[in-house]
Amino acid sequence: MNFTFLGHACFTIEFGAKTLLFDPFISGNPMAKEHGIDVDRIQADYILISHAHADHLLDAVSIAKRCDATVVCSYEVHEWLLKQGVAKTHPMNIGGRWNFGDFSVKCVVAHHSSGLPDGSYGGSPMGFLVFADNKQIYYSGDTSLTLDMQLIPRWATLDCAILPLGDNFTMGVSDAVLAAEFAGAKRVIGVHYDTFGYIVIDKEGALQQFNDAGIVLELPKIGGTVTL
Ligand code: NI
Ligand code: MN
Repeated sequence: MNFTFLGHACFTIEFGAKTLLFDPFISGNPMAKEHGIDVDRIQADYILISHAHADHLLDAVSIAKRCDATVVCSYEVHEWLLKQGVAKTHPMNIGGRWNFGDFSVKCVVAHHSSGLPDGSYGGSPMGFLVFADNKQIYYSGDTSLTLDMQLIPRWATLDCAILPLGDNFTMGVSDAVLAAEFAGAKRVIGVHYDTFGYIVIDKEGALQQFNDAGIVLELPKIGGTVTL
């Protein structure tokens, strides 16, 4: 299973012949363009959207239509996507698990907000547990540190957690260390940092804080792939 970072909180997880794309935000991210990420060349069989903010779904409609991908998201985002002409969606909500055949997804609590670009309500923001290819991955989405993360070891033995580090809008580095501990993750990939001024982090300091806690933090460069 491969993780490829596409900038901000956008990434793919590939296994077998399947590609899962998370929180597509490429055309609005100058850093993605600088690193040669072309929104028109992204491939996806499924698109998972954690919440309705533009920095998580800006390119979902165009990629879903071009790739005929199935979008997994909250019920409210699903209704909005249908109005945008997206044909294949799978609405979920927190607490629910669904088996998609090659993988399954459980939606978990995220403490954040979730307004759609037109101002309508996007439902509750979510994190995802992804069970695929004998791996168990947690993507928290945008969230604060929350006690609910202590439930995750009841549901999954994590190979990796993908957590925001940027602070200001989400948890920052020191809370992300606690989140990894709550969730039982010994390996973390950091996302949602450095994209814009509010969320610039000290990367060396972040690596040190995780290292001090006995957790491996990886910060792949945009376009970079790591094996999960
Ligand atoms: Ni957000
Ligand atoms: Mn965000």
